Amino acid sequence: MPISYFKCSVCGQSFEPDQVVYTCLACGGNLDAHFSFETNPSEIDPSEILRSSEASIWRYAPLLAAPDPGFKHSPLHQVGWTPIYQPDALKKDLGLKDLWIKDESRNPSASFKDRASALVVARAVEAGIDTIIAASTGNAGAAMACMAASAGKQALIIAPRSAPPAKIAQLLTFGARVVLVDGTYDQAFDLSIEASREFGWYNRNTGYNPYTVEGKKTAGLEIWEQVIRTMDPKTQNLTVFIPVGDGNILSGVAKGFADLLALDWIDTLPRIVGVQAEGSAAIYNAFKAGAERVDPVSAQTIADSISVDLPRDGLRALNRVRQSGGYFLTVSDEEILRAIPTLGKAGLFVEPAAAAAFAGLKAALKQGLHHPDEPALVLCTGSGLKDVRAAMQAVEPAPVIEPTLKKLKEALHV
Ligand SMILES: Cc1ncc(COP(=O)(O)O)c(C=O)c1O
Ligand SMILES: [Zn+2]
Repeated sequence: MPISYFKCSVCGQSFEPDQVVYTCLACGGNLDAHFSFETNPSEIDPSEILRSSEASIWRYAPLLAAPDPGFKHSPLHQVGWTPIYQPDALKKDLGLKDLWIKDESRNPSASFKDRASALVVARAVEAGIDTIIAASTGNAGAAMACMAASAGKQALIIAPRSAPPAKIAQLLTFGARVVLVDGTYDQAFDLSIEASREFGWYNRNTGYNPYTVEGKKTAGLEIWEQVIRTMDPKTQNLTVFIPVGDGNILSGVAKGFADLLALDWIDTLPRIVGVQAEGSAAIYNAFKAGAERVDPVSAQTIADSISVDLPRDGLRALNRVRQSGGYFLTVSDEEILRAIPTLGKAGLFVEPAAAAAFAGLKAALKQGLHHPDEPALVLCTGSGLKDVRAAMQAVEPAPVIEPTLKKLKEALHV
């Protein structure tokens, strides 16, 4: 569905779709796309979506900002429609009545970020753009490179040299042009914008390009279809735990819920909880202070994907959480690491940023912020294969023995 207009999420100014490409011309704030279905919900028939056999984000094509780009037999058509688990053991451990985990590691490049990159590539196909540049802590770039490869586009990725090697390996094998900066993600971000201005390349940056949120909203739409619709309509009080760095995943999921509310397909907004690492808590700080702006921090956490000095979508995420009646909280690196093998026991292998969301649920229960009777969903945003070093830090090493039964007995104490 074509975008009707863009509205700045900060100052509220509206723009015609062809007036802007990235951010608000008045204040630099991030733009929300708006559609005619918000004022005329009968334009879209939900039963068509519910009947769709398309097991990807493209089942929501009528609600998306760019048309389905095709490439049906490529990873572009394998993005989204990720599985939902209800791990009984974890539910019991936490004393929760209802727990869902959405496993985003099942996306083609093994993280949530494929959703945004798929929409950006769809926009590039629509607009005839060939080169897309992105700054990334690793996952957004890997997703961009994977989606660009699927559609025959050129991706150019700038990432910090400290990104986990698996993420850099993905970038390189997907055929992106890769440059690593001897600096932070924030510096890579600024450099990528400078480069796109200089060379005219299309910029996919998180919290800059409005199509990223439009891709990420598909997770909100799936949560509606896979979870909310299955709940008792009288008690549809779902709380969604989301790991937060820039705040763009959170803003995207919330945009999906906002679209559903405008369509009248849900009655209330699910509550959203943003989980930040203690060492990278710029948005949490603003939430706690009741502030209207997000000040940078000097980020330091094992969860590299949510290690951000200045969140690029912080204000919008802050407002979305407030609108939903939710809150922000922080978790320590120790809590994040502990959550990795806990999720492992439910058959999930997650990277630290994804583990942070689960650690956030645990912390919320402990602090009395979340009642065990309230249904909770945890968004597990990335695969443990992305950062094997962190996973190895979270578990005891396996014993190495001589290959004899005697030594095996000793090692296993049997
Ligand atoms: C696995 C994972 N989880 C969470 C996040 C945080 O998303 P955002 O920076 O949009 O808040 C990222 C971002 O890179 C990520 O890759
Ligand atoms: Zn503005």
